[in-house]
Amino acid sequence: MENLDWKNLGFGYRDTDYNIRCWYRNGQWGELEISSSVLINLHMSATTLHYGQEAFEGLKAFKGKDGKVRIFRMDENAKRLQHSCDGILMARLPVEKFMEAVRMAVRMNHAYIPPYESGASLYIRPLLIGTGPQIGVKPSNEYLFIVFVTPVGPYFPEGFQPTDLVIMRGYDRAAPQGTGKYKVGGNYAASMVEGMKAKKDGFSAVLYLDSKEKKYLDECGPANFFGIRDNTYITPLSDSILPSITNKSLMVLAEEMGLKIERRKVPYEELETFEEVGACGTAAVISPIKGVFDADKKKWFTYGKNPGKWSAKLYQKLRAIQYGDEPDTHGWVEVLE
Ligand code: PLP
Ligand code: COI
Repeated sequence: MENLDWKNLGFGYRDTDYNIRCWYRNGQWGELEISSSVLINLHMSATTLHYGQEAFEGLKAFKGKDGKVRIFRMDENAKRLQHSCDGILMARLPVEKFMEAVRMAVRMNHAYIPPYESGASLYIRPLLIGTGPQIGVKPSNEYLFIVFVTPVGPYFPEGFQPTDLVIMRGYDRAAPQGTGKYKVGGNYAASMVEGMKAKKDGFSAVLYLDSKEKKYLDECGPANFFGIRDNTYITPLSDSILPSITNKSLMVLAEEMGLKIERRKVPYEELETFEEVGACGTAAVISPIKGVFDADKKKWFTYGKNPGKWSAKLYQKLRAIQYGDEPDTHGWVEVLE
């Protein structure tokens, strides 16, 4: 294994030694298998290639000061993958199988878990694809589940330094009754044109409005959205956004810190009123936002140049639980044996 510069990893793919695989054939899931190949031998007519039968997850493992490895809320990712499978008619993977595959993948690539001091973590990427051939638009009879891992730093290169988001009404990532609530590859394909345009123009991500009326805030390309005002944590409720496990956790922590929680439709106009704004997710953790630019109206909404008080507190609290610096009073982390 190469000597990695743990402190400057960024969010990119790097090979590790092993991945875990499991096949669904003849109506049932098989045993977990260990693979040292990064390749998949795939039928050219597999449904994942033609009709987008693909769902994935993202979660992390953290090495603590005590040397122990902690995996954050993987039961939630297992359940969300089942939900995504239901959404595009793929075979559901049992929760326990998901969790065991994740544990194995982390254990077998132990050398790639970034040290505590680096502030980096091991990103875990489970995916599930339709592998059986179809030419008509129908679900596959066979599926492959894989878990691989890769060490990562912050998703946005700025880390916890505030960045800008952009609103562009000419693009939608998900239809009102569509697949936005599932973690399926097609949503991300649908977000690339505007996502790359946003990056080219100096923004860290697109902030999507609801695609039906363009009246309400939805979420960012790779993360959920929240705003804080008058000691209240406000986050959009919408049928077309991904139910973020980070956001769900932050709502619990915010409430414990004495904030009120509002999960509801958030009108665009409220952008004017927030004291703090952030993007949150496994990869993004909390990325504080210093400005939202409405590219259609050429209008800026600006927030502090530095992370806000509550965003900083929430960030520190979440990280402390994940790295084991503070007790896990919610049963969110599993210490890997
Ligand atoms: N929204 C989208 C579109 C995402 O891709 C992600 C990343 O997983 C999130 C939100 C955040 O979800 P989570 O906190 O479960 O990682
Ligand atoms: C995550 O936060 O885990 C994600 O999947 C977001 C992203 C890299 C698309």
